[in-house]
Amino acid sequence: MKTLPVILVGFGPVGRAFAELLAEKMAELKEKYGLSLRLEAILRRSSALLLEEKVESLDKRALVNKINDPSSWSRRPSLDSLLQQGIPGVLVEVTTSDLKTGQPGYDHIKKALTSGWHVVTANKGPLLVSFSELHNLAKENNLRLKFSGATAAALPALDVGLVSLAGTEIRRVEGILNGTSNYLLTRMAEGASYSEALKEAQEKGIAEKNPAYDVEGWDTAVKLALLSAAFFGVCLQLEEMEVVGINQLTPEELRMAKQKGLKFKLIGSLWKQKESIKAKVRPELLNPSHALFFVDGTNKGISFVTDSMGTITLMGGQSDPRGAAAALLKDIINIYHHF
Ligand code: HSE
Repeated sequence: MKTLPVILVGFGPVGRAFAELLAEKMAELKEKYGLSLRLEAILRRSSALLLEEKVESLDKRALVNKINDPSSWSRRPSLDSLLQQGIPGVLVEVTTSDLKTGQPGYDHIKKALTSGWHVVTANKGPLLVSFSELHNLAKENNLRLKFSGATAAALPALDVGLVSLAGTEIRRVEGILNGTSNYLLTRMAEGASYSEALKEAQEKGIAEKNPAYDVEGWDTAVKLALLSAAFFGVCLQLEEMEVVGINQLTPEELRMAKQKGLKFKLIGSLWKQKESIKAKVRPELLNPSHALFFVDGTNKGISFVTDSMGTITLMGGQSDPRGAAAALLKDIINIYHHF
């Protein structure tokens, strides 16, 4: 049995879902993978929950009680002090994403990787701003920096592209990578108004705090940039992409498309053009023969066109904090467990 400390930084909906999922799956992780994950600390902006009674011996209800009890939270110690004490394990970084500076996630990830800790993150900002630097740092220190949670989370886009398609040439990638936009398109085609559909997406916990980021296509563009860096080693800048969101489409246009047996989908595409990689995000009118036509509601999808395995399409993937938490947990398991 491998006993591994885990520090969770960031405690929004995804951080909370991760802590709960870890407690829920503890016995299964031990039994199936021989991993005993000990959640040692949860760090919020200015407070911390330090778990002396480690999560390996706490059930989910006890953990939730502790989390909900304000007296369990104390002043936040420095991340450095926590990283330096005891044996290193995994830092789970899920603070709010800043796409311009990458902070504070950048500092957290860098500190962990220079202190011997693996990192698993759903935070797009630091990866977008400093992908190569952080990955090189991980490599130099013989550590892993995994980020399924930042690239469509429960849809295993990265794993399939990197592991299952190893040895192929990926020539084109097309994805429905934003659950919020896809949900809005589906619901509006069914007759819901934009604001009703958006409210529902927010209630499901999938829309960003600022939903413009989802509906204007930027969330999809960032995911494409990270997939490009991972699959092609090319860190695209958002300014290099044509990005058009779904916000220009009217419910009328969506209903008309439905009547004709067609659907608008927000498609993010990556493709090879001579020696360079191109990317664009825009709503496209699909007919039922398109691989992503049946990806509806909060589901996401991705289709890979390869040189030697044909076209591989995945769809589904729970678009909510629990789905994102499961992607973080999956990355941790894959660091330590070799199938
Ligand atoms: N807001 C995103 C979505 C989830 O709707 O897919 C985080 O990437």
